[in-house]
Amino acid sequence: MTQAPKKLHIKTYGCQMNVYDSERMAEAMAPEGYVLTEDPAEADLVLLNTCHIREKAAEKVYSDLGRLRPLKEAKPDLKIGVAGCVAQAEGEEIMRRMPLVDLVVGSQSYHHLPGMVRAADRGEHPVETEFPVEDRFTLLPERPAPSRPTAFLTVQEGCDKFCAFCVVPYTRGAEMSRPVDRILAEARKLVSKGVREITLLGQNVNGYHGQAQDGETWGLGRLSRALAEIDGLDRIRYTTSHPNDMSDDLIAAHAEEPKLMPYLHLPVQSGSDRILKLMNRHHTAEFYLRLIERIRAARPDIMLSSDFIAGFPGETEQDHRDTLALIGAVGYGMAYSFKYSPRPGTPAAGRDQVDAETADRRLHEIQDLITRQQRAAQESMVGREVGVLFEKPGRLPGQWVGKSDYLQAVHVEAPEDMRGRIARVRIAASAPNSLAGALV
Ligand code: 5AD
Ligand code: SF4
Repeated sequence: MTQAPKKLHIKTYGCQMNVYDSERMAEAMAPEGYVLTEDPAEADLVLLNTCHIREKAAEKVYSDLGRLRPLKEAKPDLKIGVAGCVAQAEGEEIMRRMPLVDLVVGSQSYHHLPGMVRAADRGEHPVETEFPVEDRFTLLPERPAPSRPTAFLTVQEGCDKFCAFCVVPYTRGAEMSRPVDRILAEARKLVSKGVREITLLGQNVNGYHGQAQDGETWGLGRLSRALAEIDGLDRIRYTTSHPNDMSDDLIAAHAEEPKLMPYLHLPVQSGSDRILKLMNRHHTAEFYLRLIERIRAARPDIMLSSDFIAGFPGETEQDHRDTLALIGAVGYGMAYSFKYSPRPGTPAAGRDQVDAETADRRLHEIQDLITRQQRAAQESMVGREVGVLFEKPGRLPGQWVGKSDYLQAVHVEAPEDMRGRIARVRIAASAPNSLAGALV
C-alpha cells in the first residue's frame, strides 16, 4: 500500500531569490513524499521562508508563527520550520522565542532540509546555518517542469559591498558566482520544458564573475550573450544590480542583444553624495546619472527602476531634496522606497536616527513623486506597440494576461490559448498597475 502524500505549505516573504528558493525547497521535499498545499490548515509541514531586510519583515515571521499555534495544538504532528534569512541571522534563538518551531534552516542550507525534516519527525530540533563551500544548487534535485513560461535562475549569491544599512552580506554571505556551464545547462533544461523567459537572480547580479570552461572568468554581459544563443529562450532579465558593477560590456549587451529586455532595476538608495558616502555606496549621484545616460544611449527605450531609503541616519532636509531631484532627473518607470529600518549588526544601526515622523513624511514625498512618474510611464504606453509574453488567462472570459518587454502587466482579449506565446500588442488603455490592448 502506498502512503497518502504528505502536505507541505510554504509561505514566502521578501525577494525573488526567496521565491526561487521556495520552489527549490518544494522540489527537495518531493522525493520525501510531500506535495504542496496552499492551505496551512491541511499541511503536515509548514515552512516560513523568511526575510530579514527590514524589521517589519523579520517581525512578521513571529506574528505568523503565533498564528500557527492553534494549528499545532490541534495537530501535534504538524512540523513547523523557519527557513530563509531570519533563520540564517537568528538561528536557534528562534526556537527559544518560539518553542513551537521544529527546525531552523538557513538560506544556504536547503540541501539539508529532507534530513532535517526526518530528524524533526523523530522529535529532534535541528538547526542548520552553515555556509556551504560548494554551489548549493548542485546539491538539490533537478527542477521539474515549470507551470509558467517564465522562470528565475540564481546565478550569483551573496554580497561583499557592505552598504551600511544592509543585512545581506551577513545573511547571504560572501559573493559567489555559479560556474557558467551549470547555468547554461539549467537554462537549457528550463527552455526544454517550455520556459521562454529567464530572470537571472543575484543579490549583486551584475557583479557576476563565473568560471567558464574556456578557463576565463565571464561577466554578466558575456553570460547573457551565451544564454541568448539558446534557441527557444526569447527573453532575458536580471536583478538586482549595483551601479558600480554596470560594466561597459553589459551596457553594450543591452545595445546589441535584443533578447536582453529593456527594463533595468538599478538601485541608487539616495540622491545625496553625503548620504551615499555614509551608506558606503562608493559612488556619487553624478556617477549614477552619467551611468544612466550611457545605458540610455545603448538602449534608448530602457525602463528604469530603483530602490530608495528615506530617513537614513544623518539625512538632512537638503539630502532628502537631493534624492527628489535625482528621481526627477532620471524619470523612473517604477521604483520602490522604504523607510530606513535599523538592522542588528549593521554599521548604521548605531548612529543617530532621523525621527520617525520626518522619515515618514520624506518617504511619502518620495512615493508621491515615484507614483506620478509611474503613472506617466504607464500612460506613455498608450498607442504604442509592445511585445508581450502571455502567462495565464485573465479574470474575464477570453482574457489573457502577460508581461510586456518593460515588465508591465498587459491584458488582451484572444479567442485562442495564448499561454507561453509572445505577441505584439497595441496598447489602448492604461491603469496604474496594468495595461490593456489588442493583438496586432
Ligand atoms: N532599511 C530600509 N531599507 C532597506 N533596504 C535594505 N536594507 C534596508 C534597511 N535597513 C532596501 C534597499 C535595498 C532593498 C532591497 O531594501 O533599498 O535595495
Ligand atoms: Fe545590501 Fe545591495 Fe548594498 Fe549588497 S549592494 S550590501 S545587497 S544593498
